Amino acid sequence: MKVLGIESSCDETGVAVYDTALPGAAGLRAHAVYSQVALHAGYGGVVPELASRDHVRKLLPLVRQTLSGAGLGVGDLDGVAYTAGPGLVGALLVGAAVARSLAWALEVPAIGVHHMEGHLLAPLMEDDPPVPPFVALLVSGGHTQLVAVDGIGRYRLLGETLDDAAGEAFDKTAKLMGLPYPGGPQLAALAEQGRAGAYRFSRPMTDRPGLDFSFSGLKTQVLLAWQQSDRSAQTRADIARGFEDAVVETLAIKCERALDAAGSDVIVVSGGVGANRRLRARLQEMAAARGGRACFPRPALCTDNGAMIAFAGALRLAAGQHDGLEINAVPRWDMATLPPVAAAA
Ligand SMILES: Nc1ncnc2c1ncn2[C@@H]1O[C@H](COP(=O)(O)OP(=O)(O)OP(=O)(O)O)[C@@H](O)[C@H]1O
Ligand SMILES: [Mg+2]
Repeated sequence: MKVLGIESSCDETGVAVYDTALPGAAGLRAHAVYSQVALHAGYGGVVPELASRDHVRKLLPLVRQTLSGAGLGVGDLDGVAYTAGPGLVGALLVGAAVARSLAWALEVPAIGVHHMEGHLLAPLMEDDPPVPPFVALLVSGGHTQLVAVDGIGRYRLLGETLDDAAGEAFDKTAKLMGLPYPGGPQLAALAEQGRAGAYRFSRPMTDRPGLDFSFSGLKTQVLLAWQQSDRSAQTRADIARGFEDAVVETLAIKCERALDAAGSDVIVVSGGVGANRRLRARLQEMAAARGGRACFPRPALCTDNGAMIAFAGALRLAAGQHDGLEINAVPRWDMATLPPVAAAA
């Protein structure tokens, strides 16, 4: 089954074709992402109306480019999947309207995909995918969640952030140290030059039981350290390293606790912060020490993309699930309310 996936929930337009007939990573026939980062940079954050308008401009050319990259025509598609939420409603509506209309014209089924389920399942697109049950860590710009995955579509929230998401903490901390928007990846690059232990920040909420997170206090600690420092290039890198180590260590401690709670040794990680090199190494080390493994998508599929939507949609469409003729776009959506996917679990 060849499924076109469309992602437009925020500031990335993503399009992909996933083919369920091909094994593992080979199933991803083509994917393309257009990032609006430059468009929003001057505002220091995403401007919803500008995001929607840019999706309108970029989506159809990207669909054509992706189909041609896959060597397919529209008539070869067996289904269309699109992000139906959570996200910015105006932005979601662009992808939803294009996807639903295309499916109607082609007389193929369409399905609205939960954006976070897309992230969660992205590691399963790679070769040698983990099979549920396992624990998922979702670490993106808007979410930090630990989820017990009992099967595809069977999700139990174990813990989440009470304030900033991990990616948001990276971005805000980068901003207060004067790095350009969006700062997360730049802060991580800077941390590569930093010395471990030169600055030590707290590991929030690890001193008590529980699987929730709180990252907003960390940026205040960083701000104080930065203001009181000599502000040299080496100090900036050292502080970046101290911040990154605090986030990585906090995530690793909670992931290990979540594995204990769920009785699992497999942790699946996705969302933009999942691209972080040190986080990947630390979680791999933690899981290996208990005889399990940590699974990640390739870094390009950690941040928003159409491939994860094509893949999640393909699993559901192949199991016989699909929507009606309506166009679905919802700003909030609880992942625990999704129906299970029996055939693929
Ligand atoms: N190497 C990295 N290290 C740390 N953070 C990173 C890295 N690369 C990307 N990020 C962070 O990942 C986030 C973007 O990820 P993603 O695209 O998954 O989030 P989002 O789609 O905006 O949020 P959500 O999926 O929750 O709606 C940003 O906050 C960015 O700073
Ligand atoms: Mg996302």
